[in-house]
Amino acid sequence: MGTFVVTGSASGMGAATAGRLQDEGHTVIDVDLHEAGIQADLSTPQGRADALTGIKAATGGRLDGVAAVAGLGAHLDDPARVLAVNYFAPVALLEGLRRELAVSGAGRVVVISSNSASTVPLIDEELVRIVLSGDEKAALERAGGRHIQLPDEITESAPSITAYASSKLALSLWVRRTTVTEDWARAGILLNAVAPGAVLTPLMRASTGRDAEPDPDNFPTPMPLGHFGDPEDIAFWAHQFLRPEARFTTGSVLYVDGGTDAAMRPEGY
Ligand code: NAI
Repeated sequence: MGTFVVTGSASGMGAATAGRLQDEGHTVIDVDLHEAGIQADLSTPQGRADALTGIKAATGGRLDGVAAVAGLGAHLDDPARVLAVNYFAPVALLEGLRRELAVSGAGRVVVISSNSASTVPLIDEELVRIVLSGDEKAALERAGGRHIQLPDEITESAPSITAYASSKLALSLWVRRTTVTEDWARAGILLNAVAPGAVLTPLMRASTGRDAEPDPDNFPTPMPLGHFGDPEDIAFWAHQFLRPEARFTTGSVLYVDGGTDAAMRPEGY
């Protein structure tokens, strides 16, 4: 049986992914702000360093896989924090654990991006460029500066939409750029992303307002299947990417979004 790290394990997709691994008998090192074996605030460099210390102590030096699931939604009125948790946290943890992932020669990583990376037109390309350069201070400053003008209705419901979509685009790009480098590919570490659409979790319910049940037929993005996703729909694919048999897939960004991206970009893939 293997040893896996799951961040965001206390809720939603992270809890579902951790559950699948535990059901198979694996050891899960769970990381979250609360209700986790390792409690850390991944929005800060210190919180990430504390998490890494705890994870390394628990692994015994070898790690079979990481599911970097923790994240925040666009509804939070704190774009810098959204960017820090959605991009800088997974990248710092994965870079910090690369050595442990390399030991088996078959490490597995899945991150949770979003179909927002391709369906939201409010991405700040300069922000993505700065994020990918690794300059967290400059990136958080730019995210807080809100360089993209948002329509009024979006400012109210999703004030961090630019930081959110930009963070997820940067994360998918990081996966694709990193996976081909020698340190990762030739160490046998496979890096993939799942890009969910609207999935009913506490994050999505907070994004759509708690008063009414969100309606898939009256939703800002098209839902061709006529229903939202369930955390298990995402955990299923996250789990597939973590399996030893998934040995020829790396650098993939898999849409698990009920057809939203296909409906919005029928000519793209
Ligand atoms: P959730 O809110 O149910 O779970 C997210 C978890 O991340 C929570 O347990 C939370 O405590 C943890 N977390 C947040 N900030 C943290 C921090 N600073 N340090 C440590 N842990 C922290 O949300 P859900 O929906 O399961 O989200 C999982 C991932 O999926 C996120 O990255 C989110 O951005 C992404 N996503 C969600 C979609 C949805 O419709 N629910 C759609 C597309 C992407």
